[in-house]
Amino acid sequence: MKPSLSLPTYPTELEDWWWNQAVQKWPEYGEEKIINLIRKEVITQSDRFNKTRSFDPQSYGARDLSLLTYGNFFFPRTWNAMTVSMAEAFSYRGWSKPKKGPIRVLDIGSGSGASGLSVLHFLKKFKVPNPVTLDAWDYSGKSLAFLKNIHSRNSQLWPQTKVTTQRTDLRDPRQKNIKERFDLILVGYSLNEISQCSELEECVHRIESLADLLSPNGFMIITEPADKNTCMTLQSIATAVSTNSKKLFNHAPYFNGLQCPLNESDSHYYSHEVRKTGSPQRVEKINQPLRLETHQVKFGMAMLSTKQPRPQPKDFSVCRIVSPVSKKKGTVSFIGIAGDGLEYRYEIQRRILHPDQIKILTKLERGDILNVDSGEIGKDKNRIRIPSFTSISWPFSPRWDIRE
Ligand SMILES: C[S@@+](CC[C@H](N)C(=O)[O-])C[C@H]1O[C@@H](n2cnc3c(N)ncnc32)[C@H](O)[C@@H]1O
Repeated sequence: MKPSLSLPTYPTELEDWWWNQAVQKWPEYGEEKIINLIRKEVITQSDRFNKTRSFDPQSYGARDLSLLTYGNFFFPRTWNAMTVSMAEAFSYRGWSKPKKGPIRVLDIGSGSGASGLSVLHFLKKFKVPNPVTLDAWDYSGKSLAFLKNIHSRNSQLWPQTKVTTQRTDLRDPRQKNIKERFDLILVGYSLNEISQCSELEECVHRIESLADLLSPNGFMIITEPADKNTCMTLQSIATAVSTNSKKLFNHAPYFNGLQCPLNESDSHYYSHEVRKTGSPQRVEKINQPLRLETHQVKFGMAMLSTKQPRPQPKDFSVCRIVSPVSKKKGTVSFIGIAGDGLEYRYEIQRRILHPDQIKILTKLERGDILNVDSGEIGKDKNRIRIPSFTSISWPFSPRWDIRE
């Protein structure tokens, strides 16, 4: 299939940079010993992300081992999640850069900068001519120092960009009076940590208050880990913010400002993306005995803006895939959330498809957006029959160039 956009791959310069930091930290250790240290810490951090879910300023932003583990193992993952989300804002949702002057990006809970720096890299890869400023906020001073260092030591990856960091606890209600307005606000894998133990209402209020920092065309992009609870909470927050506040509109993952229907239904699925990625060699080496998932990035995503979403047909002719694509019972099928905010099963008979066409369809991914012309509602009104291969197009289907 021809993707709608080729995504810039995670730079090898950063893979090498993070590894060199580890080597410089432990010059007396050999490669295997460093890798083993990092492996142990990957397990601790994975357990923290997936099981204990307890975070404080010491969690992984204070110790060198934690930071170097995050950089060498987790950083490419959150980088890729923000790259693909930025691609959606940029190529499909109608985010527009200022006509002149700098593009101002704010990264909330930036850590060592995977999300913010991925956006600088993305904008420069797509030859956006404006200078770009990145403001990064986090309560971990050490993480912010890493961010500054990565930025200045790899300046060829993001020419004409400037970084400012600010150490701050984002739960502090005495948040400063900020006059600046931002074209992009990124909240990369940090909302769940900043909001741990908070009531939904408090999270909603936190996101609403960020609306005041957006420029008139600005977008807020939130990515979160892919576990079911976190993703459902994210969609509940996005729904509540866009219904209550009138300041923010819900742009993605779905259409026409509509909310995620999966939270309310007894669907087998919940809103999250599953994207095939390449994986840096170092990540693979660390992962060898651990066997964690490294060839896919799974994440929850929401996109909000003070401007109205681009209108899409309010029917099943546009949809976002929310399930794996399956080849069963003589059909190729998938579940999609459509332009009317409803969940449908889309099906196409395999007997009318050439094997190459089946191959193309099975490469569609969770998160791709499709247009489906001349689909027909079946006996079951939630089932859409697609009459031919040529009825389907994929206006948002970004891919990394992965050699198989
Ligand atoms: C999983 S990391 C994500 C880092 C980065 N955004 C990324 O995309 O990789 C979460 C970050 O949120 C920060 N954080 C959590 N709670 C915070 C708070 N209350 N105030 C400021 N930063 C916080 C942590 O220090 C950490 O850097």
